Amino acid sequence: MPDQSRWDDIIADGTDLKLCRKLKSIRAIESMGSKVDCYSCEVSDLNSMEPVIEEIKQKYGTINGVFHCAGVAGDGFLFRKEANIFKEVLAPKINGTWVINHLTRDVDLDFTILFSSINSIFGGAGQGDYTAANAYLDSFAYMQNKQGKNTLSINWPAWDEVGIAVDYGITDESSIFRLLTVERAISVLEEIASNKLTNIIPGTLNMKLLAFAKDELSFELSEQIKNKLIDKNRTKNEAEKRRRTDTEDIVLKGKGELYSDTEKSIAQMYSMVLDMQELDLYESFSAMGGDSIMATQLLKLINQQYPDIVDISDIFTYSSVVELSEYIDKQLNKDHQQETEEDTAENRLEQELNNLFDDLENGKINIQEGLKILEN
Ligand SMILES: NC(=O)c1ccc[n+]([C@@H]2O[C@H](COP(=O)([O-])OP(=O)(O)OC[C@H]3O[C@@H](n4cnc5c(N)ncnc54)[C@H](OP(=O)(O)O)[C@@H]3O)[C@@H](O)[C@H]2O)c1
Repeated sequence: MPDQSRWDDIIADGTDLKLCRKLKSIRAIESMGSKVDCYSCEVSDLNSMEPVIEEIKQKYGTINGVFHCAGVAGDGFLFRKEANIFKEVLAPKINGTWVINHLTRDVDLDFTILFSSINSIFGGAGQGDYTAANAYLDSFAYMQNKQGKNTLSINWPAWDEVGIAVDYGITDESSIFRLLTVERAISVLEEIASNKLTNIIPGTLNMKLLAFAKDELSFELSEQIKNKLIDKNRTKNEAEKRRRTDTEDIVLKGKGELYSDTEKSIAQMYSMVLDMQELDLYESFSAMGGDSIMATQLLKLINQQYPDIVDISDIFTYSSVVELSEYIDKQLNKDHQQETEEDTAENRLEQELNNLFDDLENGKINIQEGLKILEN
């Protein structure tokens, strides 16, 4: 945090929007009669945190409550993620929670509120580290409550307007819960705290996306939600069918006029997932805005038409429509060739057996000679 003396200039300058919002929020809190002290430290590092917590204890005599909000988002599939990146995502939530708990062990806290995420319940493509980090918070709250310590883990859906979700461009369409406005989030936070609710998702379901993902959920939905989904699904299927028949509406670029059937189908799937009506067939999936979640949706569509050929890593390895189509065609040809070879070998064997029986029937060979041929 910059020195207080520079805050007015920074706000007036307005270039660093994120910082300006932080400073203005602190000013707003102070204008309501509170005092805000800012310290910068590494929450997962005991040596960095200890002097800060000790100073606060000295200054205010005690600590009444903790909001543990430090966190970094995970991004990218495990197979291409470096171990240190994975650890960086775990550190603030796993090690950080442990450090805070350790340094406040002699304090009788009224509450500890942990900012977890819906990811720990729903998981998410490319979110292995973030899911693990938040799952720790949920379990930690459970354990603390068993010991009579008021610890609440909130499984937040994505917030609108500020924070990680905005930084990563999470939209209403890509999240299973509707984005939460800051105003709504603050008011539910108060309700959660006063009712001591833990492991709770304060959010409104995004029925459209839920209908799409319902078969992959790791838990049961209530009958009430299932019934709502049936209606939504009907509308969704109709819309999808309409889009599927509209192949000619997509403008394909980057490759002459001749497209293979596979290229046309794959382009149609890219267009659906990326919501683009114009596609460069040589452009990579990521360059066109495709992320891990979209890759999973794309894989689902590909599997419906070309089952068991493509896996999630192929979408990034053969990332343009042309490359992926070529890969699919090659795999299909390989399967076809293998089938043909198997058929030919089978036919040859059948023919040889028929000849053998004919020779036996015509007396050209006797049983012993026939058996010898079979053995060979
Ligand atoms: N916003 C959402 O939609 C959403 C949804 C679900 C859950 N959550 C959770 O809510 C919490 C707050 O999220 P946010 O959106 O406010 O995120 P944010 O704007 O990115 O703020 C996260 C803060 O954590 C700090 N931090 C990260 N790692 C740290 C570390 N190792 N030591 C000390 N500080 C660290 C960051 O410090 P620097 O600024 O110095 O990097 C930053 O100030 C996070 O735990 C997040 O997982 C958020």
